[in-house]
Amino acid sequence: MTYPFPVSDPIPLPAPVWLFKILNIVTLGLHFVALEILIGGLLIVAILNYFGTRQGARLELNQSASLMARRLPIVMTYVINLGVPPLLFTQVLYGQALYTSSVLIGLWWISVIAILMLTYWLLYKVAEKTETNQSAWHLAIGSWLLIGLIARIYSTNFTLMLRPEDWQSLYENSALGAALPMSDPTTTPRWIMMLTGGFAVAGIWMVWLSTTSKTSETVGAYLNGLGGKIAAAFFALQLGAAYWVFLAQPDAVKEQLTSQSLYLIAGYGWIAITVALIAISVLAIVRKPSLLLSWGGAVAVLLSMLSMVLYRDGIRDITLLTKGFDVWERNVVTNWSVVVIFLVLFVVGLGIIGWLLSVVMRSKEEQEMTLNPSFATESTKKEMTK
Ligand code: HEM
Repeated sequence: MTYPFPVSDPIPLPAPVWLFKILNIVTLGLHFVALEILIGGLLIVAILNYFGTRQGARLELNQSASLMARRLPIVMTYVINLGVPPLLFTQVLYGQALYTSSVLIGLWWISVIAILMLTYWLLYKVAEKTETNQSAWHLAIGSWLLIGLIARIYSTNFTLMLRPEDWQSLYENSALGAALPMSDPTTTPRWIMMLTGGFAVAGIWMVWLSTTSKTSETVGAYLNGLGGKIAAAFFALQLGAAYWVFLAQPDAVKEQLTSQSLYLIAGYGWIAITVALIAISVLAIVRKPSLLLSWGGAVAVLLSMLSMVLYRDGIRDITLLTKGFDVWERNVVTNWSVVVIFLVLFVVGLGIIGWLLSVVMRSKEEQEMTLNPSFATESTKKEMTK
């Protein structure tokens, strides 16, 4: 059977396929870290704010909600900026499939921009309201539902690009791109995998915030303990979601995933890191906040995302190969001088992002201490009075 992939662009790729793949995997891994913090962090903020604004509620509930909510607009900046590079690399490598699926759900795909802007605005509102101890949980839930919808649109597009057999009927169904296909058995498990991962990663984010933000000891201990509990529960659930993703794949894909060593390493590596993350979360529950656990958790989350993205890349390549599309057969004519300039700028860009992140974090802490001195630890209070 032949599948309706459009003919490839006559202009060859300007760099080797492996280089585009490495860049794609690294930047997508970073996009996923920010994305998971946003997805889980926002709903946790909603729940903490709901209970924290009830009469007689413990003070640290809304203080934790506020501390997290104020960082979410920044997290969103990283979700977006770290989403752009993998989108470019994916389009370069898989444009024939991805452009087609994007056009076929065009109305939904383009609506992401409007939904994103609304979500962003809501995030600022939530941050503003939690700061003054006002009820903001309904806005946070509204924003979270919109984020869940964007995630659904993404999961749909990145699975539809693997199903050329559905393209014709989908176009006949809605040439406007208004139909969102629901029949693909792999879409929902992938979406659920991202949503459960959101709570797990946000739990580790709370553990990380317990030592890296200059908050009071009570709020730090609360974030550490609650973050540990959420992370332990949701990493365990995510193991189940990952198995569901695997089971939903066609037999030919499953067979290749379990026989190619790269994907075996990525798959088992991801399971091992997830088990380590559960152990870190349990330690956070039973111990006081510690830098070792905070940073150990952060590094493990990054490694977990990278191995997940590698495995996900395997699902895509193998599925497309079963349909006659081999990404490794793309015509390549490497322009090394451009590649070197690009790589230098890429590394400089990553360095600048890291530096910006550290500046923003420091300014947030100062802002927090000025706005609400009760958040500050004893040592930072002394620093402020100097
Ligand atoms: C709140 C906003 C966003 C949400 C909730 C979101 C969600 C997601 C999800 C759930 C996936 C995985 C889909 C799957 O494979 O099942 C994904 C992948 C991806 N996202 Fe985002 N995303 C957001 C913003 C963005 C933005 C603004 C961009 C780029 C401009 C972007 C670029 C990408 C790319 C390129 C991939 C996959 C790349 C690949 O398959 O190689 N995302 N996103």
